Amino acid sequence: MSILIKNGRVITASEDYSADVFIEGEKISAIGKNLNLTADEIIDAAGKLVFPGGIDPHVHLDMPFMGTFSSDNYETGTAAALHGGTTMVIDFILQTQGKSLYSALEEWRGRSDGNCYGDYSFHMAVTDFNENTKKEISEMIEKEGITSFKTFMAYKGALMIDDRMMIGLMNEVRDKGGVVTVHATHGDMIDFLIAKHKSEGKLSPLYHYLSQPEITETEASGRFADMAYHTDVPAYIVHMTCEGALNEIRKAAERNQKVFVETCIQYLLLDASLYEKDFEGAKWVMSPPLREKKDQTALWAGINQGLVQVVGTDHCPFEWKKKLMGEKDFSKIPNGHPAIEHRMELLFSEGVKKGKISLNKYVEVTSTNAAKIFGMFPNKGTVGIGSDADLVIFNPDKKHTISVKTHHMNVDYSAYEGWELTGKVESVILRGKNAVDKGDLKIEKGYGNFIKRNKVSKIV
Ligand code: URP
Ligand code: ZN
Ligand code: ZN
Repeated sequence: MSILIKNGRVITASEDYSADVFIEGEKISAIGKNLNLTADEIIDAAGKLVFPGGIDPHVHLDMPFMGTFSSDNYETGTAAALHGGTTMVIDFILQTQGKSLYSALEEWRGRSDGNCYGDYSFHMAVTDFNENTKKEISEMIEKEGITSFKTFMAYKGALMIDDRMMIGLMNEVRDKGGVVTVHATHGDMIDFLIAKHKSEGKLSPLYHYLSQPEITETEASGRFADMAYHTDVPAYIVHMTCEGALNEIRKAAERNQKVFVETCIQYLLLDASLYEKDFEGAKWVMSPPLREKKDQTALWAGINQGLVQVVGTDHCPFEWKKKLMGEKDFSKIPNGHPAIEHRMELLFSEGVKKGKISLNKYVEVTSTNAAKIFGMFPNKGTVGIGSDADLVIFNPDKKHTISVKTHHMNVDYSAYEGWELTGKVESVILRGKNAVDKGDLKIEKGYGNFIKRNKVSKIV
């Protein structure tokens, strides 16, 4: 099977030019002007952008969490991702404390394998680091191609590890060629504030926000950066939301340290005023919570300053009836919101079209940097000869409106209902196959591959 994409405007993290792109099998095999090649299919991309398929390195599909499961499974979640131009996701496996990493891997692959439309990989969340777990780190990297290890500094009793475990893990991951990633918030401080608010009868979603003030994230981000500095491990902070935490990374840079930072689309676009909508605020109950306008300003600047490398989603949807579990107690609202489908279009419309980031930066933060940091570049994350033909053909002028009525995610509300966007995914190619064409999914469930990733370093 071959596809020739004619006359598109090709955008990578560093280039912007008009060309034809020729795909043979799963790979891009030629790029050039007026390519005189015969192909099984020709796509006219005049007036369209052609950029690498999005990589969302922070999603939670079919994940057991807070007494339920996230409502998108691997089938619906990766299909929705493809509709929105994301060709690959990295999901999270959660080790059960007291059990092995391998038993968690088996459980997660039992739910995912054969069910994905898009390509996928996993971060391994280490929730219990001990002599046995330690032995599994190199096997995860060498045998399974899982090279990133997630840690939680919050959610005590289920997911959180203490600093001693963190340092042990960091040393092992550094030696074996992986990266340690973190949910960086001060778990004990948050648990104290949750208990205080509950004892005072303060039970609405607003108190979810007030139980996780900026300092809880600033402190943990700084502490994590210090431990990463001490151990010299490649380090990555997930879902950063605020100015204080970002300033900790600025300080780390001043001592010549590199800590990778991911923010998520919601922290750039939404703010904490949504928690004032009584229980409707539960739609945006997530951890960390939405912040203030000044934090959005800092994050946009952080992207342009090269301090923030990745924009993900932390896609973790729950149907409204599940959110209602916390109607009388904010601490029982399952944490997370749906975004996997709209990250690429939201960031284009709100970021590129509104002049906040360049087109090259857009490609960098939605695809290229994740591919580099997590050991997939240049197979993924760019438009280049020999790279996987994961491509988005994008109409930069098409206007559309986000709605639960039209989205493909398995959740009965939209966190962005009524948002009017400019720029829409027109078609998506995944490893050389037409995956989405003008809104129609063209591939079969199971086409998505588990992607084994390479060892990583602090230099990308
Ligand atoms: O609220 C969130 N973020 N839910 C998913 C779990 C996590 O902390 O990333
Ligand atoms: Zn988290
Ligand atoms: Zn998450």
